[in-house]
Amino acid sequence: MSAYYDVIMTSGYYDYPGIVDSLLSHPPIQNVIEIGCGTGLILEEIAKREPSMRLKGIDLTQAMLDIAAHRLHGYPNIELSQQNVVDFDLQEQFDVAYSYGGVWYFVIDGEQEPFMVSHLADHDMNVKGLQQLSKHLKHQGQLLLGIQGPHFDYEKTISNGMTYAQEIVHTDIGFIKHYGLKDGHREVMALTVNYRTYSFQEAQEMLGVHGIDYVSKDLGGKFLRFQKS
Ligand SMILES: C[S@@+](CC[C@H](N)C(=O)[O-])C[C@H]1O[C@@H](n2cnc3c(N)ncnc32)[C@H](O)[C@@H]1O
Repeated sequence: MSAYYDVIMTSGYYDYPGIVDSLLSHPPIQNVIEIGCGTGLILEEIAKREPSMRLKGIDLTQAMLDIAAHRLHGYPNIELSQQNVVDFDLQEQFDVAYSYGGVWYFVIDGEQEPFMVSHLADHDMNVKGLQQLSKHLKHQGQLLLGIQGPHFDYEKTISNGMTYAQEIVHTDIGFIKHYGLKDGHREVMALTVNYRTYSFQEAQEMLGVHGIDYVSKDLGGKFLRFQKS
């Protein structure tokens, strides 16, 4: 998906300026880490507005990081690192860790309680990943996990004229999402991801064991905010 990620995402899939408005509405921040930074679209938007902020992005997928490195080469304050969140160890703690559509995020569907979605289908991997994440947060550090609307099946033409389609299949542990891209009738990209979901209470318990507690939904409505005590 890496080769087509930017064109799909910037065709209205995510609202990057809105995401960064929300991120920067928090108290003064010195260093920030993005978990699952992908091609660096959020990091670039932050760096344009806050050139002196120290930013770090980690991602599992080298092909995504290669695009991020190209995009961000003019920003000396941004470091990228290929890491699996399950066992990453950067020997550094951060004021803010955030993930937007990265490894963990929340879905809010109308009045229903938020539920957490994870790219890690295995429960033990989630436990390990959250433990590593907690180790990288400073005392009083904030964890911001992105909010998305409910996933549903659709197809649409994106800005390069290709047709993006997604299909959701519910499973015992969460859901499977099939992503596809066609150029006319020719399939140019297909990806299937197996997501695990957790109720809001389960997510709070998994974070709570590390002293990371829920604080609030942020004003921009893009993140749920947690804080490490
Ligand atoms: C939907 S993309 C989001 C990228 C970026 N946050 C954005 O808003 O454009 C999800 C990213 O999470 C990364 N990811 C998935 N599992 C991961 C893991 N175990 N450790 C680190 N990154 C992971 C993927 O490689 C992918 O780049």
